[in-house]
Amino acid sequence: MSRVTAIAHPNIALIKYWGKRDLALNLPAVSSVSLTLSGFRTQTTVETGTSNDVVRVGGEEAPEAFRRRVLAFLDRILVGRGPLTIDTESNFPMGAGLASSASGFAALTLAACAAADRPTDPVILSTLSRLGSGSACRSFWEGFVHWRRGEQPDGTDSHGYPIDALNGWDLAMVIGVVETGPKAVGSTEGMERSRETSAFYQQWIDTSERDVSDALLAIEQRDLDGLGEAMERSTFKMHATMHTATPPLIYWKGATLDVLQEVFRLRANGVSAWATMDAGPQVKILCRASDADVVVAAIQAHTKETHVLQPGPGAHLLSDR
Ligand code: PMV
Repeated sequence: MSRVTAIAHPNIALIKYWGKRDLALNLPAVSSVSLTLSGFRTQTTVETGTSNDVVRVGGEEAPEAFRRRVLAFLDRILVGRGPLTIDTESNFPMGAGLASSASGFAALTLAACAAADRPTDPVILSTLSRLGSGSACRSFWEGFVHWRRGEQPDGTDSHGYPIDALNGWDLAMVIGVVETGPKAVGSTEGMERSRETSAFYQQWIDTSERDVSDALLAIEQRDLDGLGEAMERSTFKMHATMHTATPPLIYWKGATLDVLQEVFRLRANGVSAWATMDAGPQVKILCRASDADVVVAAIQAHTKETHVLQPGPGAHLLSDR
């Protein structure tokens, strides 16, 4: 019997992943660049040697769909596994466009592999976690991470690569929570709908590598304005493929646009603040840590909650056996 606890933090994509070139293997159509954040976290304990599979979320038996997704994933990454008990808990809303699937599958992959005495090299974990949720593969390293789309049909070269560039760069991500309910359309369904029906999908694919290289250069040069520009360009192009899908997929709420206007106003007043949104209405604002209070004050009237998150560490074990 073995019992292992892992912690993983969400990551927010600066250059977005949207679209799959292989649905079964979760292989992305484009590369992406993310920032791992502290503050929000998922903690997952996996125990081997139990008599049957148990999946709990926050101490309660997990909803059936959640349980099935977790167990099917474990069947794939631990082929021939025995029964497991999984206890998971996140300190932020799940399924609301706040990257809970990234921290969730990263923590689950690390805890499960460690408990089953499998290799826990971050590249292997990143490749495995991608099968559960693509964005999870970027949560194994601190700070900026580049998920290269890869070329191999089996996906062995499609995983996160750390960009060791943070070195004390005083960045913050302000999360403006506009709504806490679960999203109506999951990201896989949204990606497929965009791929199948949006006239802009091919342009999205054709232009995203350029956004990746612009972002990597800006990171290397510590150029927040350059990074923010590339991030907003990637964000709005991704959402354009959703908005032009049939039927249209609009994750934004009115308050999303209100927060965006505040971000543009901040910039007009000389604050380097840049916005991104994922498959949900929340707005995440990249800025200098020293500007985070000004950003919070500007958006507060339009949000239900605000959180100031700093760059954070990769997935790690809390306790050894
Ligand atoms: O990992 P998934 O399947 O939840 O997809 C994440 C997609 C976005 O959050 C919209 C973009 C990204 O790169 O994280």
